[in-house]
Amino acid sequence: MAISFTLNGKPQSVDVSPDMPLLWVLRDTLNMTGTKFGCGMALCGACTVHINGEATRSCITTISSVAGKKITTIEGLSAGGSHPVQQAWMEEDVPQCGYCQSGQIMSAVALLSKKPNPTDADIDDAMSGNICRCGTYQRIRKAIHRAASMQPGKAKSAA
Ligand code: FES
Ligand code: FES
Repeated sequence: MAISFTLNGKPQSVDVSPDMPLLWVLRDTLNMTGTKFGCGMALCGACTVHINGEATRSCITTISSVAGKKITTIEGLSAGGSHPVQQAWMEEDVPQCGYCQSGQIMSAVALLSKKPNPTDADIDDAMSGNICRCGTYQRIRKAIHRAASMQPGKAKSAA
């Protein structure tokens, strides 16, 4: 039976096993490969997407559980990478190999939607489930602070 949800603002329907993880559906059924497979066990954060605005590990989320919900992936964050978090990521030159970064960005966006001015402790807490084998954590923290300063009504960070 088809399972319907909203994906990046558009209605989407898939006819797959209800137990299939959302990550599999995104990558293999819908060919949206921006969301990455890392561990498959909710341990690394590479597969992070938003479900109804909450950062969620898509590797352990069954497709049946997202019926009727709103899903946002890295592909749906902005047209052409214009989201402030993506801009800040580029300005701080965050990625190294890049593999973990879509998950990092999705977690950062969810954090900033709840806490527009996060402290270092807020950032460490919100990002602790997103592992980076390349160790880009310091640049991630700087980029989140930069993105916070780029939000409407605030002066853009000078450096
Ligand atoms: S692939 Fe989902 S948390 Fe690692
Ligand atoms: S940039 Fe390589 S794993 Fe994070």
